[in-house]
Amino acid sequence: METIRVATKERDYDVNVGPGALGLIGRYAGGADRIAVIADERVSRLHGDRLKQALREAGRTDVAWLDVPAGEPCKTVEWFGRTQQFLLEAGCTRKSLVIAFGGGACGDLAGFAAAAFMRGIDFIQCPTTILAHDSSVGGKTGINLPDGKNMTGAFHQPAAVLYDTALLETLPAEEIRSGMAEAVKHQLISSPERTEDMLAGLDYGSMDEQALLRYIVLGIQVKADIVGRDEREGSVRKFLNFGHTYGHAVEAAAGYGGLTHGESVMTGMLYALILSERLAGADRALTDRLQQFAERNGYPLRAVADYSFDELYRYMKKDKKASFGELHFVLLPEAGRPEMRKAEEADCRKADEELRKRLGVAS
Ligand SMILES: NC(=O)c1ccc[n+]([C@@H]2O[C@H](COP(=O)([O-])OP(=O)(O)OC[C@H]3O[C@@H](n4cnc5c(N)ncnc54)[C@H](O)[C@@H]3O)[C@@H](O)[C@H]2O)c1
Ligand SMILES: [Zn+2]
Repeated sequence: METIRVATKERDYDVNVGPGALGLIGRYAGGADRIAVIADERVSRLHGDRLKQALREAGRTDVAWLDVPAGEPCKTVEWFGRTQQFLLEAGCTRKSLVIAFGGGACGDLAGFAAAAFMRGIDFIQCPTTILAHDSSVGGKTGINLPDGKNMTGAFHQPAAVLYDTALLETLPAEEIRSGMAEAVKHQLISSPERTEDMLAGLDYGSMDEQALLRYIVLGIQVKADIVGRDEREGSVRKFLNFGHTYGHAVEAAAGYGGLTHGESVMTGMLYALILSERLAGADRALTDRLQQFAERNGYPLRAVADYSFDELYRYMKKDKKASFGELHFVLLPEAGRPEMRKAEEADCRKADEELRKRLGVAS
């Protein structure tokens, strides 16, 4: 088991990662007068018994349980409302504990449910996807509005994260690609050596449990370090958005669920590197290596062919990160050295053309 300590102004907490991490639940659930689990329904079906057993072993059988729709469809105002009703009916008080059991979507909903109920009660993240190594750390919680992803939410740090990597065995290939894209992002923005290491050698098809655990831990360390320095995205936390401006646009154009988040972000990172070549003097060699890596690991990069630049640009301008109609990108002049830059529409268009050219799809 690996433990990473996250230190924020709101609170300090441990992220426990490894097979069997759910078994530590007793350490954190002891003081709660009531425990309420909010679970992704698929995860509930696949792995619910493990959490129930861990709770039983910790002497907690009085657990309320709410299954929410699998994945993104749970992040709605309607389901948020249902969580509040559920917590009330379960008899929760200020001293109760919410447990989020699922991927990033369920974690975002359950975290926001805990942030809002009685103006904030404790919650524990039990992430079950690779991507959730990112989303379960850092305290961003929230839901979608019909016209905007993650538009309503709160900062609310978990009391702990129990990341049982044994649950990752049932993940489908596209979810492995999705989560690993964020793991690659964490190295790209922080370490040239580890970036090289990942891009050169990593093949998801032959990645064993030990290697996966290592990449997850490395990713969490980067995220924890950044969040510790900038909890509310005033400065360095923005770097975590590397690849996300264009990536979110592709994800939105595909209709949420058409492509996974990380698959879209991988395309977005290639785009951001091409923009970095244009605006920040980045060397093309890194872009080429990332492209080869993404192709080797089956990322659906050519899906951009289905959307025009104008369509993607409209989405980019709607992004929360656009301010006063200007687009700001995280660029990488070199691996490990992110910086923020404003980009004009003409540069964005050129980078989009170049991306399509390199992918061999028409503009
Ligand atoms: N709060 C943050 O800081 C932050 C950061 C990044 C992403 N996010 C959010 O995270 C969400 C994406 O999270 P995600 O990629 O984990 O996807 P997800 O939660 O939508 O889950 C993806 C799919 O995997 C299934 N699943 C989950 N665990 C499984 C398992 N162990 N075995 C088999 N199937 C399993 C789910 O049922 C779902 O169908 C987005 O809503 C995004 O906005 C939040
Ligand atoms: Zn992301």
